[in-house]
Amino acid sequence: MAKSVTVRAPCSTANLGPGFDVFGMALDAFYDEVTVTKKPKSFGIKIVSSDDIPLDPKKNTAGLVAAAIKKDSGIENGLEIKIKKNVPAGYGMGSSAASAAACAIAMNELFDALYDDENLTYFAGIGERASAGTVHYDNVAASLFGGFVVVDPRVNARGKFVNVTDCEVSQDITMIVAVPKIKVPKQKTKASRGVIPRNVKFSDASINLANAAYIAACFAKGWADIAINHLEDIIVEPARKKMIPGFDKVKKNAMKVGANGCTISGAGPSVIAFTEGDNFTEIGEAMKKGFKSAKVDCEIIICKPSKGPKIIKRK
Ligand code: HSE
Repeated sequence: MAKSVTVRAPCSTANLGPGFDVFGMALDAFYDEVTVTKKPKSFGIKIVSSDDIPLDPKKNTAGLVAAAIKKDSGIENGLEIKIKKNVPAGYGMGSSAASAAACAIAMNELFDALYDDENLTYFAGIGERASAGTVHYDNVAASLFGGFVVVDPRVNARGKFVNVTDCEVSQDITMIVAVPKIKVPKQKTKASRGVIPRNVKFSDASINLANAAYIAACFAKGWADIAINHLEDIIVEPARKKMIPGFDKVKKNAMKVGANGCTISGAGPSVIAFTEGDNFTEIGEAMKKGFKSAKVDCEIIICKPSKGPKIIKRK
């Protein structure tokens, strides 16, 4: 039996416009690496990292996941959790989820916990409490399974299971993520969830539902190029865009040079455009200019869908 397992899990974009807390997609841009090592019982749970992340296991995404799995499976061992953080934190690229997912997979492997996809999604979601204050499963499911995912957004709806389904996404589409260089609040996701409207007009809900249904159906059929024409979100985006300087211009510029769709990546402040063409450099430049108009610099990341996590070491 292994003493130590290392897992690499991808970053992700959540919501994809109308699929708030329901849709996610893994991105082949950044990967977090988590190594979980068995230790004696008296060791407790310790986080080791040279990156700027909480080392208190109760405040660390992976720490919360490991503690929940340890309790649920009756694991006696202590645990050392080594984290190499590569996903930028706080920019809407599923940074906490990448570490949470990697930790859940490593724990499952290390202790033969025999958790299935639905259990793993539940336990990985617990890690989101560290950054978002609440649990949501869209990013963790994308980091766990790769490609495009659909999750049940209700917390504890079925006990320690979360309904989840996933499908591979064609490499024919390209994502352009514009990451603005602005200061983000410490619990940014919590803040950006605070601006979401409490009541929604029925006709708006119906339009978002139509777009969401198109996205899911088209990805399932392998029609990624059509799915990305339906990213319009008329409920959450209008509320959240106020927190992103220059958002309207960034989106307008991306669409003008031929993006199929453009929206906020997760809880923001990154903006993500999707294209089926080879115009990604142009789209990136256009988005950069959009942010410039609000006097904000940004980094452009051009990436493909990720196929998901990998166990990269067993010792
Ligand atoms: N669905 C979550 C939100 C994702 O939009 O708040 C957070 O990255």
